[in-house]
Amino acid sequence: MGATIIVGGFWGDEGKGKIVAHVAYSDKPVIIARGGVGPNAGHTVEIDGQKFGVRMIPSGFVYKDAKLLIGAGVLVNPEVFLKEVELLKVADRARVDYRCAIIEPKHIEADKGSEHLSKKIGTTGTGCGPANVDRVNRVAKQAKDIPELKDFLTDVPLEVNQAIENGEFVLLEGSQGFGLSLYYGTYPYVTSKDTTASAIASDVGVGPTRVDDVIVVFKCFPTRVGAGPFPTEMPQEEAEKLGIVEYGTVTGRRRRIGYWDGEFARYSAMVNGATQVALTGVDKLDKECYGVTEWEKLTSKAKKFIEQVEEDVKVPVTLISTGPETKQIIDLRKEKL
Ligand code: GTP
Ligand code: IMP
Ligand code: MG
Repeated sequence: MGATIIVGGFWGDEGKGKIVAHVAYSDKPVIIARGGVGPNAGHTVEIDGQKFGVRMIPSGFVYKDAKLLIGAGVLVNPEVFLKEVELLKVADRARVDYRCAIIEPKHIEADKGSEHLSKKIGTTGTGCGPANVDRVNRVAKQAKDIPELKDFLTDVPLEVNQAIENGEFVLLEGSQGFGLSLYYGTYPYVTSKDTTASAIASDVGVGPTRVDDVIVVFKCFPTRVGAGPFPTEMPQEEAEKLGIVEYGTVTGRRRRIGYWDGEFARYSAMVNGATQVALTGVDKLDKECYGVTEWEKLTSKAKKFIEQVEEDVKVPVTLISTGPETKQIIDLRKEKL
């Protein structure tokens, strides 16, 4: 069984939450562990008519038999974490690595109050950058220092690696996306950490030899929130005309939208070591594809587009998402792998 990593291939908001939820339901992981920066993320999961937006708890929470772990590399805002634990009723299975660094109100103030961060870079204002600065300066608090988190502490690498040793399946969930990586993204218009699959493995304490699959999620029309280069960006009016306008889960900001960028996708898949691609928003490409769950029922326009994606990225497209709901997906993993 082993471990699979799911990461974003563009600038975040590719629909990782939805893909994680689907893979969790179909592959039944014993653990879903989150890497990535922190509560700047907003994963959306829609299931059975209900819509959830999670910032700290892994988006696979909808699959009720999995333990939900937050890796040591992730920044934890205790208030956000505890609120989600209560809202989603996951106190019995949500755990935080005791070494996670803590976001305090002063970090949020510093993020929102800094002209450079909030205006020039266009951060989410969730305090992640300033908290990572304190972590690097070795003055940040850790989860083990916070009494309210006492009942939720664990050693994530121990749990994850033991499960893998036992032949169980573990799902590792990234956040943000390749273009926001501190190392490989469009610096300085990036987040405060690397966001590639290797970073996610490191965040949860899993060595590269333990990872079997990396699923990189791309959306047919890439999006970006905040400032920074976006080579294939389309004018807002064009997005309106196409009916594909989007708003951010955390900040409510309107997302900038662009056309498919094959060259960028290929580079992103390379650095992430992608073994599979999940493509979301195929219903935005062609409205007739909305909710389709079989390859044969896709329109020829959609099929051609997906074939082009495979040609660009040189990795098989195994998951094709045709709407926001978890069940609106074509899963070709059995046929293609
Ligand atoms: P980050 O961790 O913040 O990068 O987020 P994410 O990758 O989990 O994505 P997010 O949920 O922020 O944004 C994706 C949006 O697209 C959500 O509103 C989803 O419900 C929606 N979505 C996902 N897949 C599809 C799809 O195939 N079609 C359509 N129309 N919407 C989709
Ligand atoms: P920060 O991570 O809040 O410091 O923001 C830095 C940049 O990353 C900004 O452009 C944000 O809009 C972007 N960003 C951070 N997290 C996400 C995310 O989960 N989805 C999309 N963009 C994000
Ligand atoms: Mg998001």
